[in-house]
Amino acid sequence: MDYGLFDLKVFGDNRGHLVSFEKNVNLPFEVKRAFYIFDTKPLIARGQHANRNSEFCMIAINGSCKVKITTGGGISTTVSLDTPHKALYLNKMVWKEMYDFSYNAILLVLTNTHYDESEYIRNYDDFLKEVSVHA
Ligand code: TYD
Repeated sequence: MDYGLFDLKVFGDNRGHLVSFEKNVNLPFEVKRAFYIFDTKPLIARGQHANRNSEFCMIAINGSCKVKITTGGGISTTVSLDTPHKALYLNKMVWKEMYDFSYNAILLVLTNTHYDESEYIRNYDDFLKEVSVHA
């Protein structure tokens, strides 16, 4: 599966709400790194890369953004993230671009790898070439 948008189980009671991530319960990988993107300026697109080894789980824990996903063969889909009740799973070797961030957006990202710049593909043509070899 290249990507998927999933409903999260929300533990809610009269105190509020809580969402948990746990390997093999609602997450297909062990988390080695988490980061969040916030204060993104208007008209800015982030991402614009593919990863050779990293899988990602993205959650708009506040506000909203869009994620444009391009898989091998250059087929693109856009997903809107606008609720902490949903998570977007992205497999390795998909091209992603996050944009249209609301002023208050906080995008939480969980991944299975430590940060390693050498596993990033930041040139789109290189991505198309490399992904076709793996197809
Ligand atoms: P970048 O890859 O441009 O962020 P994004 O693609 O998510 O918009 O990363 C921005 C900077 O942060 C860059 O200098 C690398 C650094 N960085 C880390 O040091 N660790 C990390 O886990 C991430 C995601 C980025």
